[in-house]
Amino acid sequence: MNDRNASLGATTISLHWVLAVAMIGMLAFGLILEDMARGETKSWLIWWHKSLGVAILVLAIGRLIWRLGEGMPRPLSAMPAWQARVAKATHVVLLLGTLAMPISGMMMTFGSGRAIDVFGLFTVGPFGKMELIDEIGEIVHGLGGKLLIAAIVLHILGALKHQFIDRDGTLARMAGRRVAPATRG
Ligand code: HEM
Ligand code: HEM
Repeated sequence: MNDRNASLGATTISLHWVLAVAMIGMLAFGLILEDMARGETKSWLIWWHKSLGVAILVLAIGRLIWRLGEGMPRPLSAMPAWQARVAKATHVVLLLGTLAMPISGMMMTFGSGRAIDVFGLFTVGPFGKMELIDEIGEIVHGLGGKLLIAAIVLHILGALKHQFIDRDGTLARMAGRRVAPATRG
């Protein structure tokens, strides 16, 4: 089902919530890994982190293609131009961040000359050491992760504002309900 003004399609809604839970989980997972001492448990957890990250990349590419076809959801109520711009920019950052995190993770792994074993099903690489790719991957994965957390916090605050201040049904629409677009400003 495709997106309409008053309702969002099942594809948009399911991709949004699956990727939202997956991304929040993976950011927490990564931060835990960062603080862990090297060892067998850490290597096993990194294996899961990488496999799950590759699966997320596949879904994120699907979401990007879907969004390029559908456009972004239209706002349900009028808001100041700067707020509309911040909301739009945040959505773009979240969309791109969901792609940039797994891609930079893969750059780190491939760049350091290692292969990626995806859930034990198939292996990609190794392609030999590529220092620059490794370094870019590390910067994007580390700094990008922190920026993405800030964008998610802003995004959730925006959702709460729509829910409790504007009361315009924005959250309900992303929860699958049909809502009447408001005309008030
Ligand atoms: C508890 C957490 C979250 C809540 C309550 C929430 C809520 C929402 C709502 C209500 C919308 C619709 C906005 C509109 O109609 O204008 C939306 C859109 C969006 N959200 Fe979230 N969100 C959450 C977490 C996330 C996370 C973690 C990400 C990505 C890292 C994300 C990425 C997006 C994107 C890209 C859109 C644009 C539409 C789409 O492609 O799905 N959200 N979110
Ligand atoms: C959804 C996607 C992902 C998210 C949100 C994510 C998030 C994070 C975060 C926040 C960190 C800690 C910061 C850092 O050390 O740079 C981290 C570490 C790491 N991630 Fe990811 N990651 C994702 C996917 C991947 C993928 C696909 C790979 C590789 C194939 C990967 C490989 C790694 C590695 C090797 C570390 C370093 C662990 C350590 O030794 O401390 N990540 N990740």
